[in-house]
Amino acid sequence: MDVMQAISQRYSCRAYKPDPVEEETLNQIIEAARQAPSARNFQDWRFVVVTDAETRNRLKAAAYNQAFVGQAPVVIAACSVSRYVMRCGQPIGPIDVSIALEHIALAATSLGLATCWVGSFMPGQVREILRIPSEVMVVELMTLGRPADEPKRPDRLRREEIACRETWTF
Ligand SMILES: Cc1cc2nc3c(=O)[nH]c(=O)nc-3n(C[C@H](O)[C@H](O)[C@H](O)COP(=O)(O)O)c2cc1C
Repeated sequence: MDVMQAISQRYSCRAYKPDPVEEETLNQIIEAARQAPSARNFQDWRFVVVTDAETRNRLKAAAYNQAFVGQAPVVIAACSVSRYVMRCGQPIGPIDVSIALEHIALAATSLGLATCWVGSFMPGQVREILRIPSEVMVVELMTLGRPADEPKRPDRLRREEIACRETWTF
């Protein structure tokens, strides 16, 4: 599958089959994150890959009881370990982590798996469950597994609503 196919097939999956994801596949997915670009090549991303059912259930509670978080065979907690801010004023942590996570989402799609970004969670609880030190920022969770639903394909803004030419004309 080429990257444009992966981009168009990726969707937020909120129902998963219980089948575990093979170690080899998990390794490939983490490798996709490892290859992501990052500010000054800091690679400000760390991932806690959770497959233990009890821990996933606790993460579900920390994610405001979103059922698919407990159901997905894999939940990845994506973290940033620096507080570095670029000269443009943007923090590198959430940006680096987000690029790497989307690499994960696209790689997973190309391997026949599905994902969902999860930003609705209580970071303090996730930190406690996964024993993540207080100085580490839990940026996002991502569920991963074999899909048990159909893509919904929510609407997108039109091209001209998101991109203009030469100067700001929105
Ligand atoms: C940063 C971020 C956080 C998100 N958090 C959640 C979440 O907590 N729960 C959820 O069901 N979906 C979450 N989503 C998924 C979005 O709702 C979804 O990407 C959007 O509706 C577009 O749908 P699609 O991904 O299927 O194209 C999140 C997506 C992003 C990028």
